[in-house]
Amino acid sequence: MIQIRQATLEDLPEITTIFRDTIRAVNSKDYSEKQIEVWSSDADNLEEWKDRIENLYFLVAEFKGQIAGFAYLKNGFHLDGLYVHKDFQRRTIGSKLLRIMESRATANGYEVLKSDISITAFPFFDSHYYEVEKRHKKNYKGLAFENIIVYRDL
Ligand SMILES: CC(C)(COP(=O)(O)OP(=O)(O)OC[C@H]1O[C@@H](n2cnc3c(N)ncnc32)[C@H](O)[C@@H]1OP(=O)(O)O)[C@@H](O)C(=O)NCCC(=O)NCCS
Repeated sequence: MIQIRQATLEDLPEITTIFRDTIRAVNSKDYSEKQIEVWSSDADNLEEWKDRIENLYFLVAEFKGQIAGFAYLKNGFHLDGLYVHKDFQRRTIGSKLLRIMESRATANGYEVLKSDISITAFPFFDSHYYEVEKRHKKNYKGLAFENIIVYRDL
């Protein structure tokens, strides 16, 4: 059984490990080695992760006491991160987290959920009826990442 709960600071090591490993194992099929190195090294920015856990709507999905995925919402309607453990891909965890984030955005008074996603995640969002607002190159630490801004009217 998957259980969804609010993240706490105790989850920090598991969250950053999932972030690093998922990018290296899953997103690596769509981005260069250098991009993957730079992106996944964000896992080391512990102050930023602490700030997210403490100040955003930040959920983890747990399976038998292990964190299998996480997601966080910014500004009430912006899905700022959604990562599923590399060993738990395609087991509906992403869908469960997304649905709760959509409900939360609605409860916050918004009629849309938006996200700036990796090209790797596009088939997932497409299967959840998200529309493309624009494809763009996101500049991060001197590298240009091919990303897609998607949204869904709630
Ligand atoms: C995108 C992501 C969060 C999806 O999580 P998930 O738990 O694997 O997704 P689900 O099991 O809920 O998938 C639901 C449906 O989405 C679609 N889908 C998901 N991943 C897909 C893929 N790689 N290719 C095609 N369709 C996909 C399928 O229709 C799937 O249903 P199915 O498995 O019955 O065919 C996960 O793959 C991930 O962590 N990706 C890397 C990190 C990332 O890019 N995050 C996005 C924000 S930058």
